[in-house]
Amino acid sequence: MTSRIPYQTLSGTSRLAGVMGWPVSHSKSPRLQGYWLAKYGIDGSYMPLPVEPKNFQAALISLRNLGFSGVNVTIPQKEMAMPECDELSDRARRIGAVNTVTFAKDGRILGDNTDGFGFIENLRQEAPNADFCAGPAVVLGAGGASRAVLFALLDEGSPEIRIANRTRKRADDLAAEINDPRIKVVDWPLEPAALADISLLVNTTSLGMVGQPKLEINLDGLPQTALVTDIVYAPLITDLLAQAQKRGNSIVDGLGMLLHQARPGFHRWFGIDPEVTAELRDFVLSPD
Ligand code: ATR
Repeated sequence: MTSRIPYQTLSGTSRLAGVMGWPVSHSKSPRLQGYWLAKYGIDGSYMPLPVEPKNFQAALISLRNLGFSGVNVTIPQKEMAMPECDELSDRARRIGAVNTVTFAKDGRILGDNTDGFGFIENLRQEAPNADFCAGPAVVLGAGGASRAVLFALLDEGSPEIRIANRTRKRADDLAAEINDPRIKVVDWPLEPAALADISLLVNTTSLGMVGQPKLEINLDGLPQTALVTDIVYAPLITDLLAQAQKRGNSIVDGLGMLLHQARPGFHRWFGIDPEVTAELRDFVLSPD
């Protein structure tokens, strides 16, 4: 018998968390959170929880009753989690979706959305010298990811945000709902003039992702000082990022958003605000 104790040994007081989704097998969260649990030597576990949407409510309540500390919630259950929460953070309410649930000691279910936090923290870490709110931003896309990015940029003090989306009405509806004079809707495809004075260009669409069509964009009008980022992280360097880099613009890939959005949940459930490092990036990207 070996005297070495494997790190995954659990005690009677282990803290438990996981990720609920359907499907959930593609999720990188168990690998990511498992890395931090091992790194910080925490007596806890984080598991994939495949839950059919029809069972979502019962499963959430059961996890609370089983003594879980919390869960991440992924597609298609991010919106379904909203009405199940006893308390929502401001950002979850505004975005209209929950990705991080914490079960409080008194049994209350607390919902948060950390996607916008992850977006901003990624830019801060990867482009510490970029003043991405110095001038206007252009955000491509008007889906769920766009909402999180828009609110985060407004909170960061962005002076103007131009949304461009294939389906114009979706962008118009989103702008009307947010109802902030700093939000403008511009044409898709983008006119070069829309890029002429910006500090930040963000792709929140699925274009450029493995298996999806390419994002066709003319960057001719883009200032060299503008930061370009993509929330797509497969591939890590999308065509948009490669094109921007070639012109001399600073770029930030989308992997860090995924890693940073996981920090608040880990902190609440396991007690440590974990670090996002180059080693973690390699670990999450490497095959299981
Ligand atoms: P998410 O929650 O990840 O943002 P979503 O709500 O499905 O996902 O939004 C996907 C975004 O990618 C939308 O802005 C979508 O544009 P539409 O609103 O016009 O659908 C955009 N998108 C997806 N496929 C696209 C394509 N082939 N061309 C242009 N935009 C596309």
